[in-house]
Amino acid sequence: TNTRRPLVAGNWKMNGDKSLVEKVQSHLAQAELSNMDWVICPPAPYLGLFDAGTKLGVQNVSQFDSGAHTGEVSVSMLKEFGCGYAIVGHSERREDNFESDDVVAQKVAKVLDAGLTPILCVGEPEEVREAGTLFDYIANQLDAVLAEVGIAAFTNIVLAYEPIWAIGTGKTASPEQAQEVHAFIRGHLAKQDSNIAAGTVILYGGSVKGSNAKELFSQADVDGGLIGGASLNPEDFLSICLAA
Ligand code: G3P
Repeated sequence: TNTRRPLVAGNWKMNGDKSLVEKVQSHLAQAELSNMDWVICPPAPYLGLFDAGTKLGVQNVSQFDSGAHTGEVSVSMLKEFGCGYAIVGHSERREDNFESDDVVAQKVAKVLDAGLTPILCVGEPEEVREAGTLFDYIANQLDAVLAEVGIAAFTNIVLAYEPIWAIGTGKTASPEQAQEVHAFIRGHLAKQDSNIAAGTVILYGGSVKGSNAKELFSQADVDGGLIGGASLNPEDFLSICLAA
């Protein structure tokens, strides 16, 4: 038993359309989801279309405040549209947009300063797991953020462990594989502050579906999920929320 409140976040990535906004919203509105939190992270243009009361997050945010940064969206703009969460450091952004550990750390700081909750993603590519350097890899990703914001900030940070080989592949980490890394992450934070580590929500992401969510979420250190593909299907997303 722990006091961590389960969270399920739907990351639409660059998918969906206006009609999906309607569908997801009406589906979740009817559901009884009182013992967990859920949040939808649609592409930024759709944020303003959701009803007040829908918990929203964004998939990316600028590390800058305002000004000459073409194409970027600031954390204060997102706040105006009711965003409570921001995904930071997703592996797709680390890869497609060359986001370094340092940029990720700066973004986490910016999100925290604005009073939003960062959902900080970490996770290894397959070759790192095969080479046996998984824990060093994850520790480095965490240390970059710890160096920037300090352990106390982890009271307000949600972590997501997303093994890259499990993202969008249908190849889910086994519950044991997920638990092993989640326990490592919590242990790594506990070296600096065991109370904060015990309270930090750590999500698993990578091919979570209605059919495997319950088993993954039943692991001691898995506090919910970051859902890609299945979040585009309102029924699947709801069944994952119900499993949390
Ligand atoms: O951020 C969620 C994610 O990367 C997992 O995607 O499609 O494997 O659930 P998916």
